[in-house]
Amino acid sequence: MTQVDESRPLTREENDLLTQTGPGTPGGELLRRYWQPVALSEELPPSGAPRPVRIMSEDLVLFRDDGDRLGLLGLHCAHRGADLSYGRLEDGGLRCIYHGWLYDVSGRCLEQPGEPAGSTFHERLRHRAYPCREVGGIIFAYMGPGEPPLFPAYEPLLADEGYRVSKKRLSDCNYLQSHEGNLDPEHLSFLHHGLPRREGNFYSAPPIVRTEETPFGGRVYSIRPAPDGMRFVKTTCFVMPNINATGPDHGGFQMGWHVPIDDFSHWRYSVGFRRTAPMDELARTESVSEIADGYRHVRNRANRYLQDREAMKTWSYSGIGTSNGPQDACVQEGMGAIEDRTEEHLGTTDQGVLLARDRLLRAIQDVLAGRDPPHVVRDETSNHHDIRVVTAVIPGDRDWYNFWESSQEAGVVSPFRALRAAGRV
Ligand code: FES
Ligand SMILES: [Fe+2]
Repeated sequence: MTQVDESRPLTREENDLLTQTGPGTPGGELLRRYWQPVALSEELPPSGAPRPVRIMSEDLVLFRDDGDRLGLLGLHCAHRGADLSYGRLEDGGLRCIYHGWLYDVSGRCLEQPGEPAGSTFHERLRHRAYPCREVGGIIFAYMGPGEPPLFPAYEPLLADEGYRVSKKRLSDCNYLQSHEGNLDPEHLSFLHHGLPRREGNFYSAPPIVRTEETPFGGRVYSIRPAPDGMRFVKTTCFVMPNINATGPDHGGFQMGWHVPIDDFSHWRYSVGFRRTAPMDELARTESVSEIADGYRHVRNRANRYLQDREAMKTWSYSGIGTSNGPQDACVQEGMGAIEDRTEEHLGTTDQGVLLARDRLLRAIQDVLAGRDPPHVVRDETSNHHDIRVVTAVIPGDRDWYNFWESSQEAGVVSPFRALRAAGRV
């Protein structure tokens, strides 16, 4: 268990290592060692048009061939660079509409109709291609070198369709800003808080924060005082390299991937699930009114997130509606496209942020040294991950670190059940 009172800011070199994700950058090479989301399944229905996608500064085309196999190829045709997302889906692949070159999902060029009969030119050509997997309503790709690792067996992705919801949202800033936001429990007492601070609200007091390393990354514990001598305990997981597991207690949790589009914008893919009951319609569609076309927030920098100064006087700390997403976007995009972490002054509640930076910087060194970084899974027997997200109110004299081993015991109360019992929700 780690406790840090103050910490030095990052050096410029460290900030660059963590935030630069294009091909050939050390940080980009680290992210490419793991399966990454590239689209929602709903964006590419069977027989749907190929889609251009930009991931980690690479322009690619995602498609299903006429045998329903997924392909992810370099966007620009190997012949003279035409955009393959306008191509034809036929004859076992994707055919460029400029001169008819045909590619299969593995990047082999099957035909070059303009070349002489008997030419072997096409056999010597290999277009950029990445393997894909479709799991839990999300299409993932492996964009790294060598043999892909096993696909990680994350519980939310394995949930049946009615028990989970998969989403994506656009953020106009570097991926690390949003990633670190999920590892910072203190902001729940401010940014996402209502007004006035009701007596007994579980987030009223800033937390004590503790962290620990785990094989998958680490856990962040926040402990707050609760009414009647109880304590409110919450764990969040940092999962290598760009994943968080967070959530309220609905008998499940949410995993989110912060996937760079380039170094100045990213997608946040998420999968929320419940173990014991299907997600109801409200849980599946909540905050839809906050989402515009293209998986963008209605509230954005151009309209100053529709911040309401009157609401700030009465019921909203931020004045930015009731949905966490736009509130997070306001502060994270407001840091600038890439936050200058050489100017920070981290405090005692920033330990989750420190844990992630430390693990990422060490993992980058692993990759530079030619080693697999942590949580690259190559062995089926170790493809199970103790990613638990716990939110509970426990007696003040109870051990907050170990209680979750037996969280079904009497005396450990879901905060939502406690709120309901108290008539607050
Ligand atoms: S540019 Fe694609 S076939 Fe010529
Ligand atoms: Fe947040």
